[in-house]
Amino acid sequence: MVVFKTTSDLAFYLKNKKAEGIKIGFVPTMGALHSGHISLVNRAKADGLFSICSIFLNPTQFNDKKDFEKYPVTTNEDIALLLEADCDVLFLPQVSEIYPDGTENTKTYDFGYLDTILEGANRPGHFKGVGQVVGRLLEIVQPDTLYLGQKDYQQCMVISKLKQVMGLDELNIAICATMREADGLAMSSRNRRLTEPNRTLAAIIYQCLVSIQAKRDVASFAVVKKECFDLMNRKGFETEYVALADASTMDLLDEYEPGRQMVALIAAKLGEIRLIDNILL
Ligand code: PAJ
Repeated sequence: MVVFKTTSDLAFYLKNKKAEGIKIGFVPTMGALHSGHISLVNRAKADGLFSICSIFLNPTQFNDKKDFEKYPVTTNEDIALLLEADCDVLFLPQVSEIYPDGTENTKTYDFGYLDTILEGANRPGHFKGVGQVVGRLLEIVQPDTLYLGQKDYQQCMVISKLKQVMGLDELNIAICATMREADGLAMSSRNRRLTEPNRTLAAIIYQCLVSIQAKRDVASFAVVKKECFDLMNRKGFETEYVALADASTMDLLDEYEPGRQMVALIAAKLGEIRLIDNILL
């Protein structure tokens, strides 16, 4: 694995690789890597692409300063995992490499409706920061395929819109399945900050999603949603939303709609830790 810390070195290296006709699969991350991240690298390699992973803890997408300060940084372990996965390139830039003109002077994008609901509504400025950093990374890496996790469903929709706004017609976006712990909890860098009892409770989020999915043809979503809210709050979660949306437009739905591809999404805090997950139905 070759490690690059500067944009210019990476760009020079990739220019030569591209001249050789090599196709690039890109996995952007914020580090504290787990099997979910590694599954994206594995997928890029299985697709026969030259794999590039970036680790950049992007300050502009954290609406909660404490969340940013406490975000786990485990660079040595991350490198070991990427070596084990046989990742081809790691890009490990400093803030000044990504935002040489300062964060205020780096291009941002407007995601319209997508930024007004769910994660957009609950984390003001978050998607602006995601769009800003992914826009920059796409300019630098210019991948053929971008690998994203379904775990961050709305982020996948936002980045698909970014592709459109940036006019990157040739870019493929591969949305990869959510990797889960044995009890169903979606793997997340933030899980390691859960206390032991909260780690056990956290699996309830996935149980709620599975029940929303299982009841689609036999119950009212309004009823199931209330059951989930009540259960989660009784167990000590601070539930932000339990929502149902059209899987492609993200239009919010009050009720199950037969024949429509939908996604159920949950966001809830356990102690200080904010968790999100979703399921297609
Ligand atoms: P991060 O949370 O580090 O996630 C990096 C990528 O890994 C994202 O595409 C995310 O959806 C995916 N991922 C996370 N958990 C996963 C899981 N359990 N199974 C499968 N994939 C999973 O998302 C970000 O970073 C940032 O917002 C980023 C896009 C890098 C921009 O800064």
